[in-house]
Amino acid sequence: MMSSLSADVLVIGGGLIGSSIAWRLTQKGARVTVADAGNLGGEASSAGAGMLAPGSEASKPSRWLDLGRESLRMYPAFLEELREQTGLHVEYRACGCLVLDAGSAVPGVRVEQRGADLFYPDEALIDPSALLRTLRQAGKKQGVLVEHGALTGVDASRHGAVVVAAGAWSSSLQVRHKGELLPLPESTPVKGHLIGFQMRQGLLGPFLRKSHTYVLQRADGLVIAGTTEEHVGFDTSVEFAACNDIHRRAAEVVPELAAVEPVRRWIGFRPGPELEDGPVLRQVEGTNVWLAYGHYRNGILLTPVTAQWIADRIAG
Ligand code: GLY
Repeated sequence: MMSSLSADVLVIGGGLIGSSIAWRLTQKGARVTVADAGNLGGEASSAGAGMLAPGSEASKPSRWLDLGRESLRMYPAFLEELREQTGLHVEYRACGCLVLDAGSAVPGVRVEQRGADLFYPDEALIDPSALLRTLRQAGKKQGVLVEHGALTGVDASRHGAVVVAAGAWSSSLQVRHKGELLPLPESTPVKGHLIGFQMRQGLLGPFLRKSHTYVLQRADGLVIAGTTEEHVGFDTSVEFAACNDIHRRAAEVVPELAAVEPVRRWIGFRPGPELEDGPVLRQVEGTNVWLAYGHYRNGILLTPVTAQWIADRIAG
């Protein structure tokens, strides 16, 4: 808890998680600085496809599923609040998700059987780049300061609170408290390739999944297909073989894609590793350091709930 609501907070990481925490903290009266080593969310937040899919991602009941469902429920009001504050519109579509040749759904999730497929009517899509721009704009309006440049070490004793929200980079930071180096839970990058096709608008309604493949469409017609899970460190290379494999799998889901060349190929780094109990969301005991990372495949989905959870606790 901050000693006073006007205390300063240093948020390390300017992706969706860091930016949303910073925005929420300023609403509680904190003076917030976001420190970002890269291009503010360019490596994971804006690379993601933007599926808000707690049920169709889940294979069993878990904290991931609980947090995901809560965050999905929060999304419409979260976006409305951002729109009121910034005037910016973030593409969000409650189109549902159709899982082809699905197994059984996790109990408690609303789902409809459609032959061999399962339809999750509550699931939605969002444009994560637009969300990131909007969060930054909202933060700026509320006085969030941004510092660019690689931060290797932080002395938490100099701040009211420190939030580590640097995704896959989090555990490489040296965070000290009263001179002591804090051991941070490990974070690792899990690379994913994505490809995009420019198609006619309205080609896809719900987003589609089949095993490890997903295909979705944005309002401007861009169809995005993914993905891979690669444990290759921070290797930013875009591999044609991986893209071709996604293309082949995506064409099994949407046959029209077989004859079309991708207009974009890109990668992102999910903030791993894959943890059993959900992301790392907690205070480092006996310190003013808070951890908000390890969102793995669910960073975009879990943005509203993470921001609320961390900001509420820091502000007491
Ligand atoms: N949430 C989808 C992915 O990580 O690829």
